[in-house]
Amino acid sequence: MRNAKSLLALGLGVATAAAGGAVLAQPQAGPQTGIVFRNTVTGETLDTAEGKPGGRDTEAVKTFFQTGKNIYIDDKACLRNGESLYATSCSGCHGHLAEGKLGPGLNDNYWTYPANTEDTGLFSTIWGGANGMMGPHNENLTPDEVLQVVAWIRHLYTGPVKDAVWLNDDQKKTYKPYKEGETFAKDAPGQCKPLPE
Ligand code: HEC
Repeated sequence: MRNAKSLLALGLGVATAAAGGAVLAQPQAGPQTGIVFRNTVTGETLDTAEGKPGGRDTEAVKTFFQTGKNIYIDDKACLRNGESLYATSCSGCHGHLAEGKLGPGLNDNYWTYPANTEDTGLFSTIWGGANGMMGPHNENLTPDEVLQVVAWIRHLYTGPVKDAVWLNDDQKKTYKPYKEGETFAKDAPGQCKPLPE
């Protein structure tokens, strides 16, 4: 019995090691990422090394690329930056409050692409674009800046809290829908440094 069990364990160990070996044997192009980001429309793999330089070695980007968790959600300093980045790059088409304009609303619980309910999906849509006027934004936003924009879009959300899958249970308890006119101080405490002027 004992022998049979340990043989089985050995067999499993070998299989795991072989699978692990295959992963390691892959060419190491760019940063090793745990998450594979895919174009929202075509499903093609997105290369996060391409585009605007910088903003790839922050704690937030490293965490996000490994786990898909955006640690800028609800961080006031990052929301302050995200608001400004969103105003420059997105609000012209999606509306000041993400209520929708030329592009669809981003502040409710209806998504053309349901993958956008996850921050990894939203990141991919912003990074790689979608259809028509929704072009890729990786030339004007670094991955770190995209995470700040994602945090801001989540902050603008006015839909039912049960559909806010990007919030953890504690965040859901304290969730308040966005009210127009909320602003964040220039020196708001948090993980994001003020954007360069
Ligand atoms: C030139 C206009 C334009 C700009 C600028 C623009 N978008 Fe879009 N966006 C669109 C259009 C049009 C669509 C619909 C495309 C589609 O359905 O494939 C869209 C779709 C989207 C979607 C998918 C929504 C859903 O319901 O699944 C997201 C998310 C999004 N945009 C985010 C952004 C963000 C964030 C920015 C700024 C970084 C931005 N967009 C900038 C026009 C724009």
